[in-house]
Amino acid sequence: MAEKQRRLVVVSNRVGPLKDEGKAGGLAVGLADALRRRGGLWFGWSGETSEDGTDSPEQTEIYDHTAMTTIDMTEEELDGFYLGYANRSLWPLLHYRLDLAEFDDQSDRIYRRVNRRFAERLSALVDDEDLVWIHDYHFFYFGDELRRCGFKGRIGFFLHIPFCPPEVFSALPSSHDLVKAMLAYDVIGFQTETDRRNFCAFCVHELGGEELDGGRVRVGDRTTIAAAIPIGIDAEGFARFALSAEAVEHEEMVRDISRHRHQIVGVDRMDYSKGLVQRMKGFERLLENHPGERGNVQFLQVAPLSRSELNAYAELRDELEQLAGRINGRFARLDWTPIQIMTRGFTRRALAGIYRAARVCMVTPLRDGMNLVAKEYVAAQNPDDPGVLILSRFAGARAELEDALIVNPFSTDEIAEALETALTMPLEERQRRWERMRERVFTGTAEAWCNEFLDLLESVPDAA
Ligand code: ADP
Ligand code: G6P
Repeated sequence: MAEKQRRLVVVSNRVGPLKDEGKAGGLAVGLADALRRRGGLWFGWSGETSEDGTDSPEQTEIYDHTAMTTIDMTEEELDGFYLGYANRSLWPLLHYRLDLAEFDDQSDRIYRRVNRRFAERLSALVDDEDLVWIHDYHFFYFGDELRRCGFKGRIGFFLHIPFCPPEVFSALPSSHDLVKAMLAYDVIGFQTETDRRNFCAFCVHELGGEELDGGRVRVGDRTTIAAAIPIGIDAEGFARFALSAEAVEHEEMVRDISRHRHQIVGVDRMDYSKGLVQRMKGFERLLENHPGERGNVQFLQVAPLSRSELNAYAELRDELEQLAGRINGRFARLDWTPIQIMTRGFTRRALAGIYRAARVCMVTPLRDGMNLVAKEYVAAQNPDDPGVLILSRFAGARAELEDALIVNPFSTDEIAEALETALTMPLEERQRRWERMRERVFTGTAEAWCNEFLDLLESVPDAA
């Protein structure tokens, strides 16, 4: 008789949406795709603050066969945990931006406290038969705290963003505590081999641990499995979105506004890791170096606002708007505005239509865990006339999408020349490259990612 499937319990700071609501963020999109198939419990932050977070109401909603249980944070927690430690310290650091990282003891304390409080709340909702899967840099201490509450089942962790080299990560004052706490997880998943290697190097060189066979790493009396398991998308679902009425309407709208000029598109949260300034300068260089393209191309950057309370993000917005204004001022004609920036969200169907209308998609982060936009763009293309993906060598997706035009996003000239190559690429070459990328995107799906991770987690023995 087949064994009963264990209940899946997913924990992440952001939960949902499971519906097509037009929210930005790779984690929620990837997890929603995975959960929609398997069902279970999704636990995390409600996105709200209330006066006394410890008594914050617990809300449960059910979508299909997934229950979503969320709790509030206090203002102090939001500030110290989310805006502070997670997004002022960890996010820049793990994206190799030591220059932007800020550290302070107070937010470190609050971060640990929130991890403990959320773990305590979850411990009342789970039993040892459940498979608990924690996600991302908000919850490095969660597993350790859940064990302190007495949970003996399996706990996995997946890091959606990069893990920087130990030389950079060790700048974090609490880096040793944090990585030691991570060893409470039975399995730790990373997006790429590079991230996995960096993590193991930290364990070995900073904590005196050792790498064992089977991807295991040991520090003191704790052993975990570290694995590279790249996340994917629901490729078939997204390809279907691209044929929906809403997608077709958006595809036509984009073609209309571009008046059949070549459309270049970028779709990213407004985040300094995405290389938006460098990208725009690359587009400007294209117009400088290839005057024939003036009036023939249009660049649409969709950049929903993200974490606007933080200076680095607010400054980026100002810088981008000024830069776009300057480039438009310099090159615009009465009948042509080279760059359009939009900060609004779109439904996934609408996005699929926008991708399909674009001859070129620029995915040029300075550093990115995976980048799902790259995969969505590939999934949405029309096989008869596919567009070209320009992809940063520093995006996790690069490991799987070698048939994109790979660029160094710090080089203005490389971006400009890749754009020109993409705009003039013959149909046969576009199709050849796209076919190979399509193969990868349709094989390495969100479902495959989820199954691979959970199979590994189920293969480890229960904690003693
Ligand atoms: P990150 O996780 O850093 O935000 P990803 O590229 O991995 O980067 O994921 C971003 C996700 O957010 C993608 O699924 C993308 O479709 C979605 N997204 C980006 N911009 C928008 C937008 N304007 N409206 C709706 N969804 C968006
Ligand atoms: C990335 C992170 C996620 C995060 C998302 C949106 O995808 O990996 O953990 O949820 O960005 O950011 P936000 O700060 O709005 O949750």
